[in-house]
Amino acid sequence: MVEIRIENLRKTFGDVVATDEVTIVLEEGNLSTLLGPSGCGKTTLLRLIAGFYAPDCGRIFFDDKDVTDTPPHKRNTGMCFQNYALWPHMSVADNVAYGLKLKRVKGLRYTNSAIKRRVDEALALVRMGDLGHRHIHQLSGGQQQRVALARALVIEPGVLLLDEPLSNLDAKLRIEMREEIIRIHKEMSITTVYVTHDQQEALSISDKVAVMDHGYVQQFATPREIYSDPQTVFVADFIGQCTFLDGTVESIGDSIEIQLPDGQRIKGRTTIDGYPFEKGESVKAAIRPEDLNLEATGSSDNEIAGTVTRTIYIGNALEVYFKVGQIAAQSLLEPDLSIKEGDKIFLFAPQSEVMILPVGGVEALRKVPGHPMAMSEPPSTLSHV
Ligand SMILES: Nc1ncnc2c1ncn2[C@@H]1O[C@H](COP(=O)(O)OP(=O)(O)O)[C@@H](O)[C@H]1O
Ligand SMILES: [Mg+2]
Repeated sequence: MVEIRIENLRKTFGDVVATDEVTIVLEEGNLSTLLGPSGCGKTTLLRLIAGFYAPDCGRIFFDDKDVTDTPPHKRNTGMCFQNYALWPHMSVADNVAYGLKLKRVKGLRYTNSAIKRRVDEALALVRMGDLGHRHIHQLSGGQQQRVALARALVIEPGVLLLDEPLSNLDAKLRIEMREEIIRIHKEMSITTVYVTHDQQEALSISDKVAVMDHGYVQQFATPREIYSDPQTVFVADFIGQCTFLDGTVESIGDSIEIQLPDGQRIKGRTTIDGYPFEKGESVKAAIRPEDLNLEATGSSDNEIAGTVTRTIYIGNALEVYFKVGQIAAQSLLEPDLSIKEGDKIFLFAPQSEVMILPVGGVEALRKVPGHPMAMSEPPSTLSHV
């Protein structure tokens, strides 16, 4: 198994910075996901790991070996592309065998019988054992996806790289193949890097998720940590739902008290160990819908007053949209409450569930002692798209 260590990686295309200051360790045997909106640099980072692009600066290590200047075919990576990139005129088995026929182990090629055995094993692994003779155009999208996966796995790669492998499939098949990928990953324990823009997919399959925006990895952590302790406003917003209340820091102690524009005050906690909040600093209070409750639990401290703008009954809960001053907010309440548009409501958010976030995004993280962002190079003068 291979550990992938990435240090201060940057890749530009002309004056576009596709990825920048990426410093992460993808642990051996883990399935790590690169998650973010279209154009945020996921494919670029994956291709840097594969060796299809050379970085402008930074290093990539597979275990202790610096592979930054190693050509792709010598990195022992298996890659699955978004569009599968299968050869339509070849059979399933020939598609899977292709890479093996090219592969040399200590200068020697595989024998035909060894190739056949490995292709059979790879096709069995993706449950395509009886379809080896078919042509690619005779397969469904899901089956083509399995062939692409078998082709990546047959060379027994140390690292498996998957670029939005399920994006061409319909919703039901996507969930089915997602389970397949989890199963195969468990069986093989190959260090896997998985690219997706779908947060549900990322949360459900990953050991760790790197949330990317504008070329930066904003946070790299377990799905649970990403949801419960987002490090930036972008991460809190991209993963799940959140209400953001603008405020300024009033006091800093065990909790952080902030004042909202309409004068209300609420207390919350920081999600960033070591971030040096300052009195008067502009911040956002981020609150998940499920953490805003109607009943105040005795402490009238953290109540927020709002006016209901809309309610949606969704069976097991009532989605309540409301305004706090000019800010749109939402909560998830008991389904049988009779709340209607125009009602004034008081909602309570426990201090422990109000996340106080700096507004500066990754720039704010540079202020955290020991944070990778604090230690890497200053931002380039090029434009981040
Ligand atoms: N080969 C390329 N030439 C020029 N610009 C590119 C190239 N590849 C990617 N980019 C740009 O780099 C940014 C990141 O792209 P990409 O890594 O493909 O994002 P993602 O996979 O997250 O959608 C985008 O602005 C994209 O237009
Ligand atoms: Mg992409």
